[in-house]
Amino acid sequence: MALSGLFLIVFLLVHLSINLLLLSDDQSLFNEASHFMATNPLILIMQYVLALGFAVHILSGVALTVQNQLARPKSYANNKPSENSSIESRTMIVSGILVLLFLVLHMRNFFYHIKFGHVPEGGDYMLVSDLFDIWYYTMIYVASFVILGFHLNHGFQSAFQSVGANNKTWAPFWKKLGTIYSVAVAGGFSIIALYLFFN
Ligand code: HEM
Repeated sequence: MALSGLFLIVFLLVHLSINLLLLSDDQSLFNEASHFMATNPLILIMQYVLALGFAVHILSGVALTVQNQLARPKSYANNKPSENSSIESRTMIVSGILVLLFLVLHMRNFFYHIKFGHVPEGGDYMLVSDLFDIWYYTMIYVASFVILGFHLNHGFQSAFQSVGANNKTWAPFWKKLGTIYSVAVAGGFSIIALYLFFN
């Protein structure tokens, strides 16, 4: 779970870096980067690794949740979860399922279109920019980025704890870095969507 999570954390940074080109006035920059990502043989192989990364992460997330339920089917008589855990940590399966739903929509909007559908004149830039002309898509995407941010905020530090890179000294550091990372990812993707909507 942790290793696939760390892999997806790196993927999101790469994806965000490429998408930041959408903020440039020169639309060919994003089109060229997107074309490179869709045609470079090494990256095409990475797409299978990425799909595997998502599959492993989702399946182990579901398995972990079921395991936790089976370990304690009857809840504690006196339980105040808010006193010893964050809301993010207790709702990882919910935020995870919502991110998965977003991903299905996202694959339909872009990946499927680019691979099998029709890309408008103006290339991938125009495909993205046309989608964010529609207010409800912009809203769904931004809401999904916020949920993704909550998921990452707990997931980031939790991954480092699971791989054993956590102790009294390092725990506050991973927590802080996780928050910076989640705000940057959720904020970065949201700024792109909102920028395209308002322009
Ligand atoms: C402003 C936000 C986003 C935009 C404009 C965007 C745009 C795109 C585009 C155009 C593609 C197709 C790339 C190609 O095949 O050439 C793509 C693929 C993909 N996106 Fe996004 N994306 C955004 C956010 C996200 C987020 C938050 C996630 C994950 C939670 C994500 C996951 C993926 C995945 C898994 C693929 C397929 C893999 C790939 O083609 O490399 N995207 N995205």
